[in-house]
Amino acid sequence: MALPTINPTTTNAWKKLQDHFNKVSNNHIKDLFANDAERANKFTINWDDFYVDFSKNRITEDTLKYLLELADEVKLKDAIKSQFSGEIINETEGRAVLHTALRAPKDANFKVDGVNVMPEIYAVKQKIEAFTNQVVNGELKGFTGKAFTDVVNIGIGGSDLGPAMVVDALQYYKNQLTTHFVSNIDGDHVNEVIKKLNPETTLFVIVSKTFTTQETLSNANTLKAWFLKSANEDAIAKHFVAVSTNIKNVTAFGIAENNVFPMWDWVGGRFSLWSAVGLTISLAVGYKNFDSLLQGANKMDEHFKNEDFKTNIPVVLALISVWYNNFFKAESEAIIPYSQYLNQFATYLQQGIMESNGKSVDRNGNPINYQTGTIIWGEPGTNSQHAFFQLIHQGTKLIPADFIGFTQSLHGNKDHQDKLMSNFLAQTEALLNGKTEAEVVAEGTETKIVPFKIFDGNKPTNTIFINKLTPESLGKLIAMYEHKIFVQGIIWNIFSYDQFGVELGKQLASKILQEFNSATVNKHDSSTQNLLNHYKKMS
Ligand code: F6P
Repeated sequence: MALPTINPTTTNAWKKLQDHFNKVSNNHIKDLFANDAERANKFTINWDDFYVDFSKNRITEDTLKYLLELADEVKLKDAIKSQFSGEIINETEGRAVLHTALRAPKDANFKVDGVNVMPEIYAVKQKIEAFTNQVVNGELKGFTGKAFTDVVNIGIGGSDLGPAMVVDALQYYKNQLTTHFVSNIDGDHVNEVIKKLNPETTLFVIVSKTFTTQETLSNANTLKAWFLKSANEDAIAKHFVAVSTNIKNVTAFGIAENNVFPMWDWVGGRFSLWSAVGLTISLAVGYKNFDSLLQGANKMDEHFKNEDFKTNIPVVLALISVWYNNFFKAESEAIIPYSQYLNQFATYLQQGIMESNGKSVDRNGNPINYQTGTIIWGEPGTNSQHAFFQLIHQGTKLIPADFIGFTQSLHGNKDHQDKLMSNFLAQTEALLNGKTEAEVVAEGTETKIVPFKIFDGNKPTNTIFINKLTPESLGKLIAMYEHKIFVQGIIWNIFSYDQFGVELGKQLASKILQEFNSATVNKHDSSTQNLLNHYKKMS
């Protein structure tokens, strides 16, 4: 069964939401709290080690009711079933979307073209586990007989961002291996990494679903050439492994077939860290921790699949985000983790969310006349408080924000943790309440300065409070956002799993690259032509 193709703006729920918006859009969240002592409890979902408080939003019980009606009218339940049962819901690329199968238990049954894919998944998992153990224990050695000390992940987009973010987030759980990530085509990136490497003790993991990506192949070739200055061709089999669906191109690169970790076309790049794309994660934190990450994601999958929408974390967060995006016309959402370990989390989600839902044609192939994908940005607190929070507090734009925090710190430094968490709680309180003129005056502020110190408040936030940053809780958190993406794609009636928008730039870049070294010049606009000439002259 294909995904439903319902224009959300034609639903009854959308009309109800529009009328409702006209009535409540000027409500202050502060008043909503004052009028309902139970508000925080009503709008909190307590699930497993997650405590998700969405009460500091510009919503009422009616808002949620109509949003839930919208979810029903666009047939979200059927869409979830279609996704989990391996239907070809990535219709534009003719593929199923089954990253959830990668973290399912062995006895699960996920079918692609009528065939259960679990045995294949578990065969690859076993290969990841065995390889990880051999590298970490020092059993596998480099060409001079030394154990590996460094791992270089070569990939870009989904083949880089997920592993890089998770390795950084789980550094507390890391073993002795030093990990590096090379992604940018900018040669300065790979050369800075090379400076830190010893060819005798470095393992290279080339990650490319297609094995055709310019950046990844260029970086892999540069690293191979550098490596071959110290070793002969036979040593490549010991030092280079690949993760890909394209075995032919991998072997043509010179990697032994035995050193290939397969993946499948039903895993989208930006949802692939759960597959062998996560090999560097497994190497960095050990297979057991990698598996816990997967198990955490699986728990969130079960919650998403089975929980009533009203208490379903990804569904509720997705609906609230639609409320701001489509009715308040908020353009962006901030993700603010109060954990330095989640330093790369917003960057990672930028691809997940913006590559998936940055679409302007609906599932019928028609142009869309309503807003879709939100702009995602963010940095950890408290650093971000000293950078861009001013604009969230007192700027002219409405920026809903997710605050992510952990009740326990990993290093157990209570003094720092209490200070961190006091900021975490204080910011959402300040964003909610603001500061009135009376309060500013009562502080003894000079009259002419008073207007500048007033904060309207009424700035919406979700608080995602988790007990502790563990591989399992991180798995749940990532999966939570993955399902949020899916829900929003269904509501907006778009295909979330293709990314044709990134192709045009790639095609033009390859044409321009040829022009750098040839007299033949394609037709360009005069700006591009001048810039091209300038580069040729100056480079
Ligand atoms: O940027 C487009 C994209 O196709 C992403 O979706 C993907 O994650 C990335 O390129 C890398 O692709 P590959 O793994 O095939 O090298």
